[in-house]
Amino acid sequence: SAPASGHDVARRTLPDAPFLAAATGRTPSRRPVWFMRQAGRSLPEYRKLREGTSMLASCFDPEMVCEITMQPVRRHGVDAAILFSDIVVPLKAAGIDLEIVAGTGPVVAEPVRSVADVRALPALSPEQVRPVADAIGLLLPALGDTPLIGFAGAPFTLASYLVEGGPSRNHERTKALMHSDPETWHALLGSLADTTVTFLTAQLDAGVDAVQLFDSWAGALSLAEYREFVLPHSTRVFDAVAAAGVPRIHFGVGTGELLGAMGEAGADVVGVDWRIPLDVAATRVGPGKGLQGNLDPAVLFAGPDAVRRQVERIVGEADRALAAGATGHVFNLGHGVLPATDPDVVTSVVELVHSL
Ligand code: CP3
Repeated sequence: SAPASGHDVARRTLPDAPFLAAATGRTPSRRPVWFMRQAGRSLPEYRKLREGTSMLASCFDPEMVCEITMQPVRRHGVDAAILFSDIVVPLKAAGIDLEIVAGTGPVVAEPVRSVADVRALPALSPEQVRPVADAIGLLLPALGDTPLIGFAGAPFTLASYLVEGGPSRNHERTKALMHSDPETWHALLGSLADTTVTFLTAQLDAGVDAVQLFDSWAGALSLAEYREFVLPHSTRVFDAVAAAGVPRIHFGVGTGELLGAMGEAGADVVGVDWRIPLDVAATRVGPGKGLQGNLDPAVLFAGPDAVRRQVERIVGEADRALAAGATGHVFNLGHGVLPATDPDVVTSVVELVHSL
Protein backbone atom coordinates (compact mmCIF):
# COMPACT_ATOMS: atom_id res chain seq x y z
CA SER A 1 0.00 0.00 0.00
CA ALA A 2 1.02 3.61 -0.54
CA PRO A 3 3.49 5.19 1.90
CA ALA A 4 2.14 7.67 4.44
CA SER A 5 4.00 10.93 4.31
CA GLY A 6 3.42 14.65 4.36
CA HIS A 7 4.85 15.15 7.86
CA ASP A 8 8.57 15.62 7.14
CA VAL A 9 7.95 18.63 4.90
CA ALA A 10 8.67 22.24 5.88
CA ARG A 11 5.11 23.54 5.92
CA ARG A 12 3.92 27.14 6.16
CA THR A 13 1.42 27.78 8.96
CA LEU A 14 -0.61 30.96 8.11
CA PRO A 15 -1.82 31.40 11.73
CA ASP A 16 -4.10 34.33 10.84
CA ALA A 17 -5.89 32.74 7.87
CA PRO A 18 -9.63 32.67 8.76
CA PHE A 19 -10.21 29.44 6.81
CA LEU A 20 -7.50 27.55 8.73
CA ALA A 21 -8.67 28.99 12.06
CA ALA A 22 -12.27 27.86 11.46
CA ALA A 23 -11.12 24.46 10.21
CA THR A 24 -8.95 23.82 13.29
CA GLY A 25 -11.33 24.96 16.03
CA ARG A 26 -9.80 28.39 16.59
CA THR A 27 -11.77 31.65 16.37
CA PRO A 28 -11.40 33.21 12.91
CA SER A 29 -11.10 36.99 12.46
CA ARG A 30 -14.06 36.70 10.06
CA ARG A 31 -16.30 33.89 8.82
CA PRO A 32 -14.30 32.26 6.01
CA VAL A 33 -15.92 31.55 2.66
CA TRP A 34 -14.86 29.69 -0.47
CA PHE A 35 -16.83 27.82 -3.14
CA MET A 36 -16.56 24.37 -4.59
CA ARG A 37 -15.96 24.82 -8.35
CA GLN A 38 -15.06 28.47 -7.78
CA ALA A 39 -12.62 27.99 -10.67
CA GLY A 40 -14.27 27.00 -13.90
CA ARG A 41 -16.88 27.81 -16.46
CA SER A 42 -18.70 30.53 -14.50
CA LEU A 43 -15.65 32.75 -15.10
CA PRO A 44 -15.09 34.35 -18.55
CA GLU A 45 -11.34 34.53 -17.86
CA TYR A 46 -11.38 30.73 -17.34
CA ARG A 47 -13.28 30.06 -20.57
CA LYS A 48 -10.84 32.25 -22.46
CA LEU A 49 -7.74 30.58 -21.02
CA ARG A 50 -9.12 27.07 -21.60
CA GLU A 51 -9.90 27.72 -25.31
CA GLY A 52 -8.14 25.04 -27.37
CA THR A 53 -6.86 23.02 -24.39
CA SER A 54 -8.66 19.92 -23.12
CA MET A 55 -9.66 19.76 -19.47
CA LEU A 56 -7.14 17.02 -18.66
CA ALA A 57 -4.31 18.64 -20.65
CA SER A 58 -4.86 21.84 -18.65
CA CYS A 59 -4.66 19.85 -15.38
CA PHE A 60 -1.15 18.67 -16.32
CA ASP A 61 0.09 22.18 -17.26
CA PRO A 62 1.48 23.81 -14.07
CA GLU A 63 1.24 27.40 -15.37
CA MET A 64 -2.40 26.91 -16.41
CA VAL A 65 -3.28 25.21 -13.13
CA CYS A 66 -1.70 28.10 -11.23
CA GLU A 67 -3.49 30.79 -13.25
CA ILE A 68 -6.92 29.08 -13.16
CA THR A 69 -6.60 28.46 -9.40
CA MET A 70 -5.76 32.15 -8.85
CA GLN A 71 -8.64 33.55 -10.95
CA PRO A 72 -11.44 33.20 -8.35
CA VAL A 73 -9.12 34.33 -5.54
CA ARG A 74 -8.40 37.60 -7.37
CA ARG A 75 -11.98 38.11 -8.54
CA HIS A 76 -14.02 37.09 -5.49
CA GLY A 77 -11.66 37.63 -2.55
CA VAL A 78 -12.41 34.15 -1.17
CA ASP A 79 -10.63 32.92 1.97
CA ALA A 80 -9.17 29.81 0.33
CA ALA A 81 -8.04 28.62 -3.08
CA ILE A 82 -8.79 25.11 -4.28
CA LEU A 83 -6.29 23.52 -6.59
CA PHE A 84 -7.59 23.39 -10.16
CA SER A 85 -7.54 19.70 -11.00
CA ASP A 86 -10.04 16.85 -11.19
CA ILE A 87 -10.76 13.69 -9.25
CA VAL A 88 -9.80 11.57 -12.28
CA VAL A 89 -6.36 13.22 -12.70
CA PRO A 90 -4.52 10.53 -10.64
CA LEU A 91 -6.27 7.76 -12.62
CA LYS A 92 -5.24 9.38 -15.91
CA ALA A 93 -1.71 9.92 -14.59
CA ALA A 94 -1.46 6.23 -13.65
CA GLY A 95 -2.25 5.29 -17.24
CA ILE A 96 -5.98 4.56 -17.22
CA ASP A 97 -7.56 5.45 -20.56
CA LEU A 98 -10.16 8.14 -19.80
CA GLU A 99 -11.26 11.57 -20.95
CA ILE A 100 -13.37 14.39 -19.49
CA VAL A 101 -16.16 15.12 -21.94
CA ALA A 102 -17.61 18.64 -21.68
CA GLY A 103 -21.19 18.60 -20.42
CA THR A 104 -20.91 14.92 -19.42
CA GLY A 105 -17.93 14.35 -17.15
CA PRO A 106 -15.29 11.60 -16.95
CA VAL A 107 -15.66 8.77 -19.50
CA VAL A 108 -13.56 5.60 -19.07
CA ALA A 109 -12.60 3.63 -22.22
CA GLU A 110 -12.52 0.20 -20.55
CA PRO A 111 -14.76 -0.01 -17.47
CA VAL A 112 -13.49 -2.05 -14.51
CA ARG A 113 -15.92 -4.89 -13.75
CA SER A 114 -14.06 -8.17 -13.11
CA VAL A 115 -11.45 -9.36 -10.69
CA ALA A 116 -9.01 -9.43 -13.63
CA ASP A 117 -9.81 -5.77 -14.39
CA VAL A 118 -9.14 -4.86 -10.75
CA ARG A 119 -5.84 -6.76 -10.72
CA ALA A 120 -4.78 -4.94 -13.88
CA LEU A 121 -5.30 -1.46 -12.38
CA PRO A 122 -2.00 0.42 -12.47
CA ALA A 123 -0.54 1.90 -9.28
CA LEU A 124 0.15 5.65 -9.20
CA SER A 125 3.70 6.85 -8.58
CA PRO A 126 4.30 10.39 -7.25
CA GLU A 127 6.43 11.11 -10.33
CA GLN A 128 3.33 10.73 -12.54
CA VAL A 129 1.63 13.67 -10.80
CA ARG A 130 4.75 15.84 -10.75
CA PRO A 131 2.99 18.58 -12.80
CA VAL A 132 0.43 18.91 -9.99
CA ALA A 133 3.22 19.28 -7.41
CA ASP A 134 4.93 21.81 -9.68
CA ALA A 135 1.68 23.80 -9.93
CA ILE A 136 1.47 23.88 -6.11
CA GLY A 137 5.06 25.15 -6.04
CA LEU A 138 3.99 28.06 -8.27
CA LEU A 139 0.81 28.69 -6.31
CA LEU A 140 2.12 29.01 -2.74
CA PRO A 141 4.09 32.24 -3.36
CA ALA A 142 1.39 33.59 -5.70
CA LEU A 143 -1.28 33.07 -3.02
CA GLY A 144 0.59 34.78 -0.20
CA ASP A 145 -1.51 34.40 2.93
CA THR A 146 -4.46 32.70 1.21
CA PRO A 147 -4.52 28.96 2.05
CA LEU A 148 -4.47 26.36 -0.73
CA ILE A 149 -6.79 23.36 -0.48
CA GLY A 150 -5.62 20.19 -2.21
CA PHE A 151 -8.12 17.45 -2.97
CA ALA A 152 -8.81 13.98 -4.25
CA GLY A 153 -11.79 11.82 -5.07
CA ALA A 154 -12.70 9.25 -2.43
CA PRO A 155 -12.45 5.54 -3.33
CA PHE A 156 -16.22 5.06 -3.74
CA THR A 157 -16.76 8.01 -6.10
CA LEU A 158 -13.71 7.02 -8.18
CA ALA A 159 -14.97 3.42 -8.27
CA SER A 160 -18.33 4.58 -9.55
CA TYR A 161 -16.71 6.27 -12.57
CA LEU A 162 -14.47 3.26 -13.25
CA VAL A 163 -17.19 0.62 -12.92
CA GLU A 164 -19.97 2.51 -14.71
CA GLY A 165 -17.58 3.84 -17.36
CA GLY A 166 -18.90 7.38 -16.84
CA PRO A 167 -21.38 9.42 -14.83
CA SER A 168 -24.34 7.41 -13.56
CA ARG A 169 -27.72 8.27 -12.10
CA ASN A 170 -28.36 4.98 -10.31
CA HIS A 171 -24.85 3.49 -9.89
CA GLU A 172 -26.37 0.07 -10.67
CA ARG A 173 -23.22 -1.67 -11.94
CA THR A 174 -21.27 -0.30 -8.98
CA LYS A 175 -23.82 -1.54 -6.45
CA ALA A 176 -24.12 -4.87 -8.28
CA LEU A 177 -20.36 -5.45 -7.94
CA MET A 178 -20.41 -4.37 -4.29
CA HIS A 179 -23.18 -6.78 -3.35
CA SER A 180 -22.40 -9.73 -5.65
CA ASP A 181 -18.63 -9.89 -5.22
CA PRO A 182 -17.53 -8.12 -2.01
CA GLU A 183 -13.99 -9.51 -2.31
CA THR A 184 -13.43 -7.90 -5.71
CA TRP A 185 -15.14 -4.74 -4.45
CA HIS A 186 -12.80 -4.41 -1.49
CA ALA A 187 -9.79 -5.08 -3.72
CA LEU A 188 -10.96 -2.30 -6.05
CA LEU A 189 -11.51 0.20 -3.24
CA GLY A 190 -8.21 -0.78 -1.65
CA SER A 191 -6.39 -0.08 -4.90
CA LEU A 192 -8.18 3.27 -5.30
CA ALA A 193 -7.40 4.19 -1.68
CA ASP A 194 -3.69 3.62 -2.48
CA THR A 195 -3.97 5.92 -5.51
CA THR A 196 -5.79 8.56 -3.47
CA VAL A 197 -3.18 8.45 -0.69
CA THR A 198 -0.36 8.82 -3.22
CA PHE A 199 -2.12 11.77 -4.90
CA LEU A 200 -2.89 13.55 -1.62
CA THR A 201 0.59 12.87 -0.26
CA ALA A 202 2.15 14.40 -3.39
CA GLN A 203 0.03 17.52 -2.80
CA LEU A 204 0.88 17.63 0.91
CA ASP A 205 4.59 17.18 0.22
CA ALA A 206 4.32 20.10 -2.24
CA GLY A 207 2.81 22.23 0.55
CA VAL A 208 -1.01 22.41 0.37
CA ASP A 209 -2.54 23.88 3.54
CA ALA A 210 -5.61 21.61 3.76
CA VAL A 211 -7.13 18.69 1.87
CA GLN A 212 -10.69 17.85 0.86
CA LEU A 213 -11.78 14.32 0.04
CA PHE A 214 -14.72 14.40 -2.39
CA ASP A 215 -17.05 11.43 -2.02
CA SER A 216 -19.56 13.23 -4.20
CA TRP A 217 -21.81 10.25 -4.95
CA ALA A 218 -21.71 8.50 -1.54
CA GLY A 219 -25.23 9.82 -0.93
CA ALA A 220 -26.46 7.07 -3.28
CA LEU A 221 -25.69 4.54 -0.51
CA SER A 222 -27.55 3.49 2.61
CA LEU A 223 -25.75 3.98 5.90
CA ALA A 224 -25.30 0.19 6.19
CA GLU A 225 -23.75 0.00 2.70
CA TYR A 226 -21.54 2.98 3.45
CA ARG A 227 -20.27 1.46 6.68
CA GLU A 228 -19.54 -1.98 5.19
CA PHE A 229 -18.26 -1.13 1.71
CA VAL A 230 -16.83 2.39 1.85
CA LEU A 231 -15.97 3.65 5.34
CA PRO A 232 -12.93 1.36 5.91
CA HIS A 233 -11.28 2.61 2.72
CA SER A 234 -11.99 6.32 3.28
CA THR A 235 -10.75 5.88 6.87
CA ARG A 236 -7.49 4.46 5.54
CA VAL A 237 -7.07 7.52 3.29
CA PHE A 238 -7.65 9.97 6.16
CA ASP A 239 -5.35 8.00 8.49
CA ALA A 240 -2.55 7.99 5.91
CA VAL A 241 -2.55 11.78 5.62
CA ALA A 242 -3.14 12.58 9.30
CA ALA A 243 0.55 13.04 10.08
CA ALA A 244 0.72 16.09 7.81
CA GLY A 245 -1.30 17.89 10.49
CA VAL A 246 -3.43 19.92 8.06
CA PRO A 247 -7.26 20.15 8.20
CA ARG A 248 -9.03 17.32 6.40
CA ILE A 249 -12.47 18.04 4.89
CA HIS A 250 -14.89 15.33 3.71
CA PHE A 251 -17.76 16.19 1.37
CA GLY A 252 -20.53 14.39 -0.47
CA VAL A 253 -23.92 15.23 -1.97
CA GLY A 254 -27.17 13.98 -0.41
CA THR A 255 -25.29 12.57 2.57
CA GLY A 256 -27.69 13.63 5.34
CA GLU A 257 -27.89 10.06 6.64
CA LEU A 258 -24.12 9.52 6.34
CA LEU A 259 -22.78 12.66 8.02
CA GLY A 260 -21.85 10.93 11.28
CA ALA A 261 -20.05 8.09 9.50
CA MET A 262 -18.26 10.50 7.15
CA GLY A 263 -16.98 12.36 10.19
CA GLU A 264 -15.86 9.05 11.73
CA ALA A 265 -13.78 8.36 8.63
CA GLY A 266 -11.36 10.94 9.98
CA ALA A 267 -12.53 14.34 8.80
CA ASP A 268 -11.84 17.47 10.83
CA VAL A 269 -14.51 19.32 8.85
CA VAL A 270 -17.62 17.73 7.33
CA GLY A 271 -19.11 19.26 4.18
CA VAL A 272 -22.92 19.49 4.12
CA ASP A 273 -25.23 19.99 1.15
CA TRP A 274 -28.32 22.20 1.22
CA ARG A 275 -30.77 19.43 2.13
CA ILE A 276 -29.81 19.45 5.85
CA PRO A 277 -29.69 22.63 7.99
CA LEU A 278 -26.26 23.08 9.56
CA ASP A 279 -27.63 22.92 13.14
CA VAL A 280 -29.19 19.54 12.32
CA ALA A 281 -25.95 18.45 10.65
CA ALA A 282 -24.08 19.36 13.85
CA THR A 283 -26.14 16.90 15.88
CA ARG A 284 -25.55 14.17 13.27
CA VAL A 285 -21.81 14.79 13.05
CA GLY A 286 -21.43 15.15 16.80
CA PRO A 287 -19.25 17.64 18.67
CA GLY A 288 -15.58 18.26 17.98
CA LYS A 289 -15.65 18.79 14.22
CA GLY A 290 -16.15 21.78 11.95
CA LEU A 291 -18.87 22.13 9.32
CA GLN A 292 -18.66 23.45 5.77
CA GLY A 293 -21.59 24.61 3.64
CA ASN A 294 -24.34 24.86 2.67
CA LEU A 295 -26.00 27.36 0.28
CA ASP A 296 -27.90 25.74 -2.59
CA PRO A 297 -25.97 26.73 -5.76
CA ALA A 298 -29.33 27.26 -7.51
CA VAL A 299 -30.16 30.09 -5.06
CA LEU A 300 -27.45 32.17 -6.79
CA PHE A 301 -29.97 32.52 -9.65
CA ALA A 302 -32.79 33.82 -7.40
CA GLY A 303 -31.87 37.50 -7.10
CA PRO A 304 -30.21 39.55 -4.33
CA ASP A 305 -33.09 39.49 -1.81
CA ALA A 306 -33.38 35.71 -1.88
CA VAL A 307 -29.59 35.31 -1.75
CA ARG A 308 -29.43 37.57 1.32
CA ARG A 309 -32.26 35.73 3.09
CA GLN A 310 -30.70 32.33 2.46
CA VAL A 311 -27.18 33.43 3.46
CA GLU A 312 -28.54 34.98 6.68
CA ARG A 313 -30.50 31.79 7.44
CA ILE A 314 -27.39 29.65 6.97
CA VAL A 315 -25.25 31.91 9.15
CA GLY A 316 -27.91 31.68 11.88
CA GLU A 317 -28.04 27.89 11.62
CA ALA A 318 -24.25 27.75 11.64
CA ASP A 319 -24.15 29.81 14.84
CA ARG A 320 -26.59 27.35 16.45
CA ALA A 321 -24.34 24.51 15.23
CA LEU A 322 -21.36 26.20 16.93
CA ALA A 323 -23.38 26.53 20.15
CA ALA A 324 -24.19 22.80 19.87
CA GLY A 325 -20.53 21.74 19.70
CA ALA A 326 -19.36 22.26 16.11
CA THR A 327 -15.83 23.69 16.27
CA GLY A 328 -16.04 26.03 13.29
CA HIS A 329 -18.02 27.06 10.22
CA VAL A 330 -16.59 27.47 6.73
CA PHE A 331 -19.20 29.06 4.47
CA ASN A 332 -19.53 27.31 1.10
CA LEU A 333 -22.15 26.09 -1.31
CA GLY A 334 -23.82 22.73 -0.83
CA HIS A 335 -22.22 21.61 -4.14
CA GLY A 336 -20.25 23.28 -6.92
CA VAL A 337 -20.86 26.65 -8.61
CA LEU A 338 -23.08 25.98 -11.64
CA PRO A 339 -21.53 27.01 -14.98
CA ALA A 340 -24.24 29.61 -15.81
CA THR A 341 -23.84 31.45 -12.48
CA ASP A 342 -23.23 35.22 -12.67
CA PRO A 343 -19.76 35.70 -11.14
CA ASP A 344 -20.80 39.05 -9.64
CA VAL A 345 -23.40 37.23 -7.54
CA VAL A 346 -20.65 34.93 -6.25
CA THR A 347 -18.56 37.97 -5.29
CA SER A 348 -21.59 39.50 -3.54
CA VAL A 349 -21.95 36.37 -1.36
CA VAL A 350 -18.34 36.70 -0.23
CA GLU A 351 -18.95 40.33 0.75
CA LEU A 352 -22.22 39.46 2.48
CA VAL A 353 -20.75 36.58 4.52
CA HIS A 354 -17.85 38.78 5.61
CA SER A 355 -20.23 41.58 6.62
CA LEU A 356 -22.53 39.47 8.82
O1 CP3 B 1 -12.75 25.12 -8.33
C1 CP3 B 1 -12.75 23.91 -7.94
O2 CP3 B 1 -13.63 23.42 -7.23
C2 CP3 B 1 -11.57 23.04 -8.33
C3 CP3 B 1 -11.74 22.28 -9.48
C4 CP3 B 1 -12.45 20.95 -9.54
C5 CP3 B 1 -12.80 20.39 -10.78
N1 CP3 B 1 -13.26 19.14 -10.59
C6 CP3 B 1 -12.64 21.09 -12.05
C7 CP3 B 1 -13.50 20.69 -13.19
C8 CP3 B 1 -12.77 20.01 -8.57
C9 CP3 B 1 -12.65 20.13 -7.06
C10 CP3 B 1 -13.28 18.87 -9.24
C11 CP3 B 1 -13.67 17.61 -8.57
C12 CP3 B 1 -14.61 16.72 -9.25
N2 CP3 B 1 -14.59 16.28 -10.53
C13 CP3 B 1 -15.65 16.07 -8.58
C14 CP3 B 1 -15.97 16.23 -7.13
C15 CP3 B 1 -16.69 17.50 -6.89
C16 CP3 B 1 -18.12 17.48 -7.32
O3 CP3 B 1 -18.48 18.25 -8.20
O4 CP3 B 1 -18.86 16.67 -6.75
C17 CP3 B 1 -16.30 15.25 -9.52
C18 CP3 B 1 -17.50 14.38 -9.26
C19 CP3 B 1 -15.61 15.39 -10.75
C20 CP3 B 1 -15.90 14.70 -12.03
C21 CP3 B 1 -16.19 15.72 -13.07
N3 CP3 B 1 -15.22 16.42 -13.76
C22 CP3 B 1 -17.46 16.23 -13.47
C23 CP3 B 1 -18.79 15.74 -12.95
C24 CP3 B 1 -17.22 17.25 -14.41
C25 CP3 B 1 -18.23 18.17 -15.07
C26 CP3 B 1 -18.60 17.74 -16.46
C27 CP3 B 1 -19.30 18.87 -17.18
O5 CP3 B 1 -18.77 19.34 -18.20
O6 CP3 B 1 -20.38 19.27 -16.74
C28 CP3 B 1 -15.83 17.34 -14.58
C29 CP3 B 1 -15.11 18.30 -15.43
C30 CP3 B 1 -14.59 19.48 -14.71
N4 CP3 B 1 -13.83 19.42 -13.57
C31 CP3 B 1 -14.75 20.83 -15.08
C32 CP3 B 1 -14.04 21.59 -14.14
C33 CP3 B 1 -13.85 23.09 -14.13
C34 CP3 B 1 -15.50 21.32 -16.30
C35 CP3 B 1 -14.67 21.05 -17.53
C36 CP3 B 1 -14.53 22.25 -18.43
O7 CP3 B 1 -14.36 23.39 -17.97
O8 CP3 B 1 -14.51 22.02 -19.64
